[in-house]
Amino acid sequence: MDLHSLIQPTVEAAKEAGTFIRQEREHFHAGKVEHKGFNDLVSYVDKEAEKIIVKALKLIFPEAGFITEEQTVEQVDTPWKWIVDPLDGTTNFVHGVPSYAVSIGLAKDGVVMLGVVYEVGRDECFTAYRGGGAYCNGKPIQVSEADELSKSLIATGFPYHLGDRLEVHFDLLKDLVLSSHGLRRIGSAAVDLCYVACGRVEAYFEYNLQSYDIAAGTLVLEEAGGQVSDFRGGSNFLFGGEVFGSNGKVHGVVLDKLKGLAAKK
Ligand code: IPD
Ligand code: CA
Ligand code: CA
Repeated sequence: MDLHSLIQPTVEAAKEAGTFIRQEREHFHAGKVEHKGFNDLVSYVDKEAEKIIVKALKLIFPEAGFITEEQTVEQVDTPWKWIVDPLDGTTNFVHGVPSYAVSIGLAKDGVVMLGVVYEVGRDECFTAYRGGGAYCNGKPIQVSEADELSKSLIATGFPYHLGDRLEVHFDLLKDLVLSSHGLRRIGSAAVDLCYVACGRVEAYFEYNLQSYDIAAGTLVLEEAGGQVSDFRGGSNFLFGGEVFGSNGKVHGVVLDKLKGLAAKK
């Protein structure tokens, strides 16, 4: 499989959906929102964007199956799979807060091989394929050089279902606020990971995530020289629900703090 040759058409698919999302935002209002669950918002924009992406991806690589958030296409089990979040950051989109993105990953046997994250509001497109480095709008990107937590900015997210980890999570946030440059809740897991990849923040963690939130972003980060793990330092992040990505240099120090937040086995 020539992954390099898949990048440009995948970028075009992401941008086609991004253009649709941008146009719809201009006349979007709260009455168009549906609820999938507590605080889990969706609208016709997510679903139509997904249809645009699926139609394009089927032409690019017809043998590949799909894992997609809105499930507008049959989710068949094949070795190669597109892993798609048509609109990551729906809550931001609904409220008109700028950070939201189209996220498209391509995995083989559960290993992400290609990733494209298109941050619609900034017109920034992050791309990577395994072994090929990471790029933003065609320029190579790298993680930051910061090697101390006290010089680091940390991103996180709050899952829709906080469950019984709320207290531990909030204690950890207090600890990080006091020991770093501060915390950011950007509102799109895909964007969070790409911001670590291009050196804007040093680390990002979140739990209760799905593979479509992070498939593309984790590969972009790895290819930018970063490190990605679960909350115990293992590699079960894509389907394990817990993701921690960093510039590598602060991975150990943050991981020590994160272990208490790992799901009880
Ligand atoms: C959400 C975003 C958000 C994260 C949530 C995700 P959605 O995805 O990535 O940053 O905190 O856990 O579900 O619902 O906007 O596609
Ligand atoms: Ca998402
Ligand atoms: Ca989504």
